[in-house]
Amino acid sequence: MKMHVTVIGGGMIVHDQILPSLYQLRRKGLVGNITICARNKTTLDTLAANERIAKAFPGESFTATTACYKDVLANAAQRNLTIIALPDQLHFDAVMTAIDAQQHVICVKPLVQKIQQAKIIEKAAQDRNLFVGVEYHKRFDDRALMARDRYRAGHFGDFKLGTARLFEKWYYRHSNFQNWFSMENSDAFTYIGCHYVDLVHFITGLLPVSISVAGVPEKFPNGTDAWMWTDARVKWSNGALLNVQNALGYPDQGPGSNTQGMTLWTSLGDRGGFLNHTDSHRGLEYCYVDGGYSEPSPDYMQYVPNHLGPGERVVGYGYRSIEALVEAAQSVEADPKQLEVIETQGIVATASNSSYNELVTEAARLSLENEGREVLIQYGTLPFVHLKSYL
Ligand SMILES: NC(=O)c1ccc[n+]([C@@H]2O[C@H](COP(=O)([O-])OP(=O)(O)OC[C@H]3O[C@@H](n4cnc5c(N)ncnc54)[C@H](O)[C@@H]3O)[C@@H](O)[C@H]2O)c1
Repeated sequence: MKMHVTVIGGGMIVHDQILPSLYQLRRKGLVGNITICARNKTTLDTLAANERIAKAFPGESFTATTACYKDVLANAAQRNLTIIALPDQLHFDAVMTAIDAQQHVICVKPLVQKIQQAKIIEKAAQDRNLFVGVEYHKRFDDRALMARDRYRAGHFGDFKLGTARLFEKWYYRHSNFQNWFSMENSDAFTYIGCHYVDLVHFITGLLPVSISVAGVPEKFPNGTDAWMWTDARVKWSNGALLNVQNALGYPDQGPGSNTQGMTLWTSLGDRGGFLNHTDSHRGLEYCYVDGGYSEPSPDYMQYVPNHLGPGERVVGYGYRSIEALVEAAQSVEADPKQLEVIETQGIVATASNSSYNELVTEAARLSLENEGREVLIQYGTLPFVHLKSYL
């Protein structure tokens, strides 16, 4: 089955991951027309003229539009696919508009920032037999799948204490992030910390039950205040604790494209175990003759020669994640019963099976606004979050 794809937003994530992946899927016959909708013509022109993408996918192109996404989606062929790649705080309206237009949806993480919004999305999608997937690409890093398998087979025992970090490069501060990554919209934890919270659940099956996040604010070059550095403590349903540190703060002169990794300490009876993922330095060290040194990751998104024709292809978990989500949407369109299979398997994140992430985000935002006070997460038919009372 071939699906037409409408992408809403044309920023960094579309350039780095979504568009090259869609071109590759079109080469494989899984994707039909690709339309990208953005507010500014220059965003679309820059994307269309990008040499890196054009070199890998000669002859591939997309339809560009600066029309309002509501109009674009109203005219899109029904029961096809929409990918939402807008700033975090705009996801809810865009996802709901796509569902109303009878579109299967893939949304970049975090799906939304409030659990109630996630529940509304979940119900609206279920009523129409539509798939709503959330793009947590770290799940498609083979090391995460291996860890999930081994943890769930009991090889590690129980998770007790962990630490994770993901710092993006300093230059993000000079990008379009200045226009949306303000204190009232997002923060370093909401933006990237959610990946490791999601991974801990993905691997262990545990649920987060409380969170406390404190931040260090700094200004963007345009003067906007942001939670540029954050420190979070997440408590899990078995009592385990995870510390997560995040920032737009990895030095530009650092050798990789970020710094990231996770260590989980575990135990069973009187024996201990651990799981340690070094996720930024993956063993490659390149020293170039012009004096440059880098430690590239071969695992997220890389361009390698195409063995079946001209150009190149993309490899890595960034591509595999988009492929898996597109395949999931197609399988649901072919047979709505597939929705339950996907939900239950829990490999692909959906609005419904990953809604603990919305609870974490909502709790984190509340904690940040209250100088790091602990916020409790309550599950049940009407899940909610609230500040812990010490009275
Ligand atoms: N690791 C990841 O999973 C990952 C990485 C990057 C981005 N993302 C997510 O993707 C989304 C977009 O991030 P990005 O890195 O592409 O951001 P970006 O700032 O580079 O691009 C944002 C896009 O949205 C458009 N836009 C529409 N309305 C806007 C508004 N009111 N303010 C600012 N921009 C507006 C911009 O024109 C641009 O095309 C975010 O939700 C982000 O969290 C996820």
